[in-house]
Amino acid sequence: MVANDAPASTFRYNETPVYTTSNGAPINNPEGWQRPGSMGPLLLQDFHLIDQLAHFDRERIPERVVHAKGAGAYGVFEVTHGISDITSIDMFGHVGKKTNCVARFSTVGGEKGSADSARDPRGFSVKFYTDEGNWDWVYNNTPVFFLRDPTKFPLFIHTQKRNPQTNLKDATMFWDYLSTHQEAIHQVMQLFSDRGTPYSYRHMNGYSGHTHKWTKPDGSFVYTQVHLKTDQGIKTFTNAEAGKMASENPDWHTQDLFEAIKKGEHPSWTVYVQVLTPEQAEKFRWNIFDLTKVWPQKEVPLRPIGKLTLNKNVENYFAEIEQVAFSPSHLVPGIEPSVDPVLQSRLFSYPDTHRHRLGVNYQQIPVNAPLRAFNPYQRDGSMAVNGNYGANPNYPSSYRKLTYKPVTPAATHEKWSGSAVHALFQDVNDDDFVQAKGLWDVLGRTPGQQDNFIGNVSGHLCAAHQDTRNRTYEMFSRVDASLGKAIKEQTDKQANQ
Ligand code: NDP
Ligand code: HEM
Repeated sequence: MVANDAPASTFRYNETPVYTTSNGAPINNPEGWQRPGSMGPLLLQDFHLIDQLAHFDRERIPERVVHAKGAGAYGVFEVTHGISDITSIDMFGHVGKKTNCVARFSTVGGEKGSADSARDPRGFSVKFYTDEGNWDWVYNNTPVFFLRDPTKFPLFIHTQKRNPQTNLKDATMFWDYLSTHQEAIHQVMQLFSDRGTPYSYRHMNGYSGHTHKWTKPDGSFVYTQVHLKTDQGIKTFTNAEAGKMASENPDWHTQDLFEAIKKGEHPSWTVYVQVLTPEQAEKFRWNIFDLTKVWPQKEVPLRPIGKLTLNKNVENYFAEIEQVAFSPSHLVPGIEPSVDPVLQSRLFSYPDTHRHRLGVNYQQIPVNAPLRAFNPYQRDGSMAVNGNYGANPNYPSSYRKLTYKPVTPAATHEKWSGSAVHALFQDVNDDDFVQAKGLWDVLGRTPGQQDNFIGNVSGHLCAAHQDTRNRTYEMFSRVDASLGKAIKEQTDKQANQ
């Protein structure tokens, strides 16, 4: 069954199905319980009650370790511009080609019940049910990230979550990490601009962040970055508005998405790609495998490809959104990961967490199931619910021939040799502040944006220890001396109140 083509509803007001136990036996009263006589003790033979309680006890599955709070919907991607000159990805086959998909948006650091309007990056994930397998875009609403060394991810995330002793969010932990890992500055600039508090999921962009390789059957390839620009326009909360919404309606983004789609106001995004040939990449000013850097749009223009539209709400949130499992390693012919070490680590981490969160057969859950998969050498395991390939041989049997379709790997542009080293991507240097300063200047183009930025930082930083604050002022001074000075003045004032 294709998730997007699932029956519209299994729920009909005018039908009265027969209520049964979970093994299908009719029962007269869902609220009754078995006992001898009028007030005798509960009988262990009451399967209906025991089963009900035992199932309830197991209703929760582990929440996502990051991006736990989210909302999603189904949609369609339509190609508007041919790009066969750069890739053979089937989904982009011809202008007008449509591919069904499911999308999930999320905050990052908060728990499953946390407020949608928190200052945080937003996840922007889409699973496309293509004719050549599921292709997942596991993107954020920012074009860069806090780190370029994958080993730092769990460490960084710990500092954005709760203090191990107090179980409170902790401003000192938060800024201690960022001010001692200053390659994060570009992402910190994004996060504390008003784009760090989007008005809703419909009003933000999505970015691949990572560089990928898009390939052609002749083995040639280009390096790419994908951008999804909201057709609703960027709209943000101020810090005060976001705080107010967190207490008045912590589920605002979830509600906004659901109600817009229900009303027929289908949100859409125009999808673009930035392209560099291997030769251009070699001479490029920026290391294209450094996740803390963008490709300036003036130098690498955006090329339109198509439109993503979300047009259908889910029928059941748990089945279709809580259980949806995205992974940067769910790729299709025509696309390969680049050597960006953060991307390479993510290729492992997501299926690993899905096996923990959903079980080894997570790809069989209807929302995750590809249009067609035939992989009979993967068998059994917990919750093998799709027939388990029946009598098909579980090894490459000479009695059952399969068709193996050739897939050409891209010509290797990167050639590696040398001893194994254990080292960082690179040390922080002045280059790490250039694009951060570029964004500071972009903010200066819109009246009030720089002032908001200073207010957004100081309102958060003022709760950190003095020495952490001092190191953070120095960090912002490396972006722009006046910025560091203004943040120091406003933060110290609030800290001393
Ligand atoms: P340009 O001067 O060509 O364009 C500025 C870009 O800045 C816009 O296209 C917009 O991205 C983005 N932008 C505008 N306001 C904000 C904001 N409040 N917060 C975050 N981004 C904003 O830009 P360059 O490509 O030379 O980049 C300048 C800076 O813009 C970069 O240092 C980077 O921080 C940021 N940026 C760059 C992107 C890129 O891929 N090149 C993407 C997003 C941000 P958009 O059109 O995507 O909305
Ligand atoms: C979710 C790991 C970096 C975007 C997750 C999850 C894990 C994880 C374990 C939970 C997945 C689940 O339970 O379903 C990592 C690691 C990273 C990393 C180890 C770096 C080494 C990034 C980056 C981006 C990103 C750079 C964006 C460019 C997302 C999104 C989700 C997510 C959008 C939510 C997916 C959903 O909607 O289900 N990440 N992540 N992550 N991550 Fe990452």
